Amino acid sequence: MTREDAARGVLPYPVWVEPGLLADVGSLVPAVAPAHRYVVISDTAVAPLHANAVAAMLPRSLCLEVLPGESQKTRESWVRLTDEMLAAGCGRDTTVVAVGGGVVGDLAGFVAATFMRGVPVVQIPTTLLAMVDASVGGKTGVDTPHGKNLVGAFHPPAAVLADPLVLATLPRRELIAGLAEVVKHGVIADAAYFDAVRAALPLLTGDEGHNATALLAHVVAGSVATKASIVAADEREGGVRKILNFGHTIGHAVETLSGYSLLHGEAVAIGMAVEAEAAERAGIAERGTAQTVRDTLQAAGLPVRRPADIAPDDIIDATRGDKKARAGRVEYALPVRIGAMASAGGRWSLPLDDALLREALA
Ligand SMILES: NC(=O)c1ccc[n+]([C@@H]2O[C@H](COP(=O)([O-])OP(=O)(O)OC[C@H]3O[C@@H](n4cnc5c(N)ncnc54)[C@H](O)[C@@H]3O)[C@@H](O)[C@H]2O)c1
Ligand SMILES: [Zn+2]
Repeated sequence: MTREDAARGVLPYPVWVEPGLLADVGSLVPAVAPAHRYVVISDTAVAPLHANAVAAMLPRSLCLEVLPGESQKTRESWVRLTDEMLAAGCGRDTTVVAVGGGVVGDLAGFVAATFMRGVPVVQIPTTLLAMVDASVGGKTGVDTPHGKNLVGAFHPPAAVLADPLVLATLPRRELIAGLAEVVKHGVIADAAYFDAVRAALPLLTGDEGHNATALLAHVVAGSVATKASIVAADEREGGVRKILNFGHTIGHAVETLSGYSLLHGEAVAIGMAVEAEAAERAGIAERGTAQTVRDTLQAAGLPVRRPADIAPDDIIDATRGDKKARAGRVEYALPVRIGAMASAGGRWSLPLDDALLREALA
């Protein structure tokens, strides 16, 4: 097979990124994950657009759906899906195919991780966020009333198939939210990629951005390469993988406090702007870094300031509930400059004074 693998030589499974790729699902999926049965898991918005077509190309397949949205990423959904698979007579020789955004990918991945003590999963991400982030790395799981992603498993996919053509149906706001993680990959690891993305923003965020499939393929492949190399270096988040959390400590707090009226990518954009500003004020980031981050996010059409009705102290308090807070100590992955993160002696995360955070949030 001569397909370009964006994670070649880095991850043990292929990540194919190519416009039109989904037309070949019928040969690609059985080749990477041979099985007697294929269970396509999707949501009710994505199923008629893309997942039913995927299921139709796979032998002895069935398509199971959840309602769209984070509220469905629960143990209750896991119970229902696994019961439906058992009722349909699925056994160990089943492959799960996740077709959807990160919600479907995490949930279906967790189903696959646990069904019959683990069956293969193929990830077919259909949002930009899922293509550049959620589908790569093997983290799966569900939310609980105590917080997001608190019950889960590492279950790397047999393959990831990212077809930018599916983004043509994605709401523009979701596409732009996905760009936050793309910008993040540039900031944390690759200045040249950051510059290339910045130059492409007018096209990507324009009316025809979701149809710029060749450009989107390029952007997705670049982000996948970055995430893959970081994940490969640190599969279970002991060290360098923490740099992927840039923007996420403040971002998660803002996302929760907004009552999820902000999309994850929007909240992370605010988080990156605030954390970069705090890094600069702490003397960790070079001068001008925060401004470059802000300018780029704004050029993408993303927010960079906390919503006026969320107070800085509430955000700081909320960060203490973040699962990345070890023993009450909140740590931040912080940039030194575009393309380089503070290593903090191999810890890759640092505490920040509340006073400094308050200034950056002001
Ligand atoms: N496992 C990881 O490493 C990882 C990393 C980042 C995020 N995540 C998780 O990902 C989730 C967020 O993912 P998301 O942003 O993709 O959200 P999502 O899965 O909720 O999808 C967003 C919306 O877009 C719709 N949609 C998806 N694809 C579409 C398409 N092609 N056309 C039209 N509509 C489409 C969905 O129905 C949904 O309403 C969160 O639960 C987060 O925790 C996981
Ligand atoms: Zn994120």
